[in-house]
Amino acid sequence: MGYIGPEVVANLRKNHPEAILIGYDMGYFASSLTHSAFLPENQLDQQIFGDVRSLNPAILIGIDKVIYLAAISNDAMGNRYEEVTYDINYKSAIKIAVEAKKAGANSFVFASSCSMYGKADGEAKTEQSQLNPLTAYAKSKVYAERDLEELANEDFTITCLRFATACGMSSRLRLDLVLNDFVAGAVSSGKIKILSDGSPWRPLIHIKDMARAINWAIQRQATDGGQFLAINAGSSRWNYQVIDLAKAVSLAIPGVKIDLNENATPDERSYKVNFSLFESLAPDAQPLCNLNDTIRELYDGLIGMEFDNINFHNSPFMRLRILNGLQEKSLINEDLEWTFKFSQIKETESTK
Ligand SMILES: NC(=O)c1ccc[n+]([C@@H]2O[C@H](COP(=O)([O-])OP(=O)(O)OC[C@H]3O[C@@H](n4cnc5c(N)ncnc54)[C@H](O)[C@@H]3O)[C@@H](O)[C@H]2O)c1
Repeated sequence: MGYIGPEVVANLRKNHPEAILIGYDMGYFASSLTHSAFLPENQLDQQIFGDVRSLNPAILIGIDKVIYLAAISNDAMGNRYEEVTYDINYKSAIKIAVEAKKAGANSFVFASSCSMYGKADGEAKTEQSQLNPLTAYAKSKVYAERDLEELANEDFTITCLRFATACGMSSRLRLDLVLNDFVAGAVSSGKIKILSDGSPWRPLIHIKDMARAINWAIQRQATDGGQFLAINAGSSRWNYQVIDLAKAVSLAIPGVKIDLNENATPDERSYKVNFSLFESLAPDAQPLCNLNDTIRELYDGLIGMEFDNINFHNSPFMRLRILNGLQEKSLINEDLEWTFKFSQIKETESTK
């Protein structure tokens, strides 16, 4: 029920019409729908609301394939909720993989991230390159991959897709992602604000192409890459410097100005990524989208939403802003648990 999930659900429903698809999500962003005419979860057979930290293993009985997307999903949130980030992104992923394996699942796909390359000069990073995670978010992905590797065997393949930074229009759009942010700035104020000197490298991937990679990974045989595989998922054509992304947006949307912060403290997170392993193992699941079409899709999507919020950095299109808002209303606690569940339990106990 996040940004990428709806696209994954749509892809799986199309490619596996007979499959029973079950969603499991805490629902933090469930109500942040953008342009969808229908609830994306309608394409599932069942949607369960729950916390991965306390998932009942019985839910996994009879499940063949698990796709672990649940996460505190960026650096800003990871810095604010560090322990929770390790619990959700790392420890719960391992616990659920262990339970899924015990229950007889045959594959586990983990949404990992290229951000684990951190600050990386020089050559594009391959899967063998040294990792340099700079944030709790990136570290949570490194730890999860490390422990997942122990669990794979001939009956249980594990694929960690080290995704590039996502972009594209979704039913639950996020604007805290570089390209989406630039197009939103262009649409709302005619300005793209870059919070750095624009030099960092960032590989990108469209969410439709992420879904295609996931569909490949759930069907992958151990003969294609081994029982455990951690693989960069994206395209070598989509390695961009941030300034080039801004220029592409300003070219596509006439009249847009780029506001570069030459004096910004340099963004340490900069990495070029080599995707040739993904190209060789998954020739039929290669990214198909291109940058200009993605900018156009985001532009049309935002115009379709009548988007004009100049202060969108403080809006519900930012994941951290939503969590903060839920907390301000005391709907979730500091551990990001829903409080109404606890008050319900307390009420039931006090009426006993
Ligand atoms: N967006 C990107 O650029 C990108 C890049 C690489 C990897 N990924 C990974 O892909 C996955 C999905 O990313 P996204 O952009 O859709 O993020 P998102 O924040 O939009 O979605 C994450 C989902 O996880 C759910 N969730 C969080 N904590 C939970 C818990 N305790 N129990 C159950 N559900 C919980 C949230 O409710 C939300 O629906 C994440 O694992 C993320 O790290 C994303």
